[in-house]
Amino acid sequence: MTGQALTRFKILDMSRVQAGPSCGQLLAWLGADVIKLEDTAGGDSTRWELAHQEGIDSVYFTIFNNNKRAITLNLKDDKGKELFTKLVQWADVVLENFSKGVMERLGFGYGKLREINPRVVHASIKGFGEYGRWSDFKSFELAAQASAGAMAANGYPELPPIPTPVGVGDSGTGLHTAVGILAALHQRNDTGEGQHVEVSMQDGIVNLMRYRLIRSLSVGGPNVRTGYKGGNGIPSVFHCAPGGSDDYIMIHTRGQAFETLMVAISREDMLQDERFTTDDSREQHCDEVEEVVNAWTSQRDKFEAFEHLAPYGIWCGAVISPEEVLTNEHLIEREMVVTVPDSVRGDYQMIGCPIKLEKSPVEVKSAPHYSQHTDEILTGLLGVDEDELPELRQRGAIV
Ligand SMILES: CC(C)(COP(=O)(O)OP(=O)(O)OC[C@H]1O[C@@H](n2cnc3c(N)ncnc32)[C@H](O)[C@@H]1OP(=O)(O)O)[C@@H](O)C(=O)NCCC(=O)NCCS
Repeated sequence: MTGQALTRFKILDMSRVQAGPSCGQLLAWLGADVIKLEDTAGGDSTRWELAHQEGIDSVYFTIFNNNKRAITLNLKDDKGKELFTKLVQWADVVLENFSKGVMERLGFGYGKLREINPRVVHASIKGFGEYGRWSDFKSFELAAQASAGAMAANGYPELPPIPTPVGVGDSGTGLHTAVGILAALHQRNDTGEGQHVEVSMQDGIVNLMRYRLIRSLSVGGPNVRTGYKGGNGIPSVFHCAPGGSDDYIMIHTRGQAFETLMVAISREDMLQDERFTTDDSREQHCDEVEEVVNAWTSQRDKFEAFEHLAPYGIWCGAVISPEEVLTNEHLIEREMVVTVPDSVRGDYQMIGCPIKLEKSPVEVKSAPHYSQHTDEILTGLLGVDEDELPELRQRGAIV
């Protein structure tokens, strides 16, 4: 595909697992030429973690690495370092999420990258950032959620904190990093110079916690986990038919929304009852409110309930399970669930790009196989003679 928003940008993506790869994938969807650089010892561990089929890359890998090319390079080998230097000269961006000090130990800290290519943007994801007393520590999704206030805010009173399944630490950090990269590339237009972009997973989640921090910043008080009732006594989810474990609908019931809801479920009589005229009085009688709404919702399935209530302007949502995401017609219409052709793995279902640019349509392409483009990149991009490839392989500089 030509003419995409980021077509002229070249990204050297050394990142692994989720946080960095999700960032590289976003930029690749938007048209950047993203080369995923993996070690010669098997590469990104997500290729085999959670794999469901012997010999085929795990969905854990394909879900975070669409639209990239893949090269292997041993950065602890002198020849590997030499080729890496050429790739840095080629790149607009070097993206990595190693723990603190790894790039320096490899001989490619930002100072060195800038010496090789003053225009290069070095985007570096760390668990706790590159400065601050915890910056030496490693991290991943749940550790980041724990250390950023998110886990303590989620769950039930009297029970231990519960992590959220949303990848706020990993994919959230990937998003923040993509914004940082685009800003640095934009600034480079004025200055002609690259710069170092640093994003901490902990910082990123704190940023996403802003709404939940309102109470702490204003009235203070101890943290209270509110479970499914969301703090005001009236639950936000109600039972639907036929009563399975995911048969629920979420409905906003505060303020004017409550009045509209009563009209929509033909219970206008509730609005004449002084127990239900204000948010405060409804909270005092939350069990009765719950009973009335459940009596209506449990008579229909969640989709019927949703499609009845939403046209009234009520904020609500059928509680869709992860499995139902994959078959949801609305999401399929919006290209959020797509089929990706792949001659080796077979065509597979994949999650699409949530950013829709009018002039930069996204075509989701298959994630690269391990070392798939090594020869092509070395000979085509870096000018390595084809005859040199066996020697490079033999010494372990590439796979
Ligand atoms: C993810 C994380 C916990 C993994 O820790 P880890 O497996 O111990 O990996 P590290 O990043 O510490 O080190 C990677 C090693 O691989 C080596 N390596 C990586 N790519 C290489 C290559 N192409 N060639 C040779 N060696 C390579 C590095 O040199 C380093 O080895 P060293 O310790 O001898 O210097 C850690 O990288 C981290 O905290 N990253 C920042 C936060 C983050 O992104 N977390 C994951 C979110 S999904």
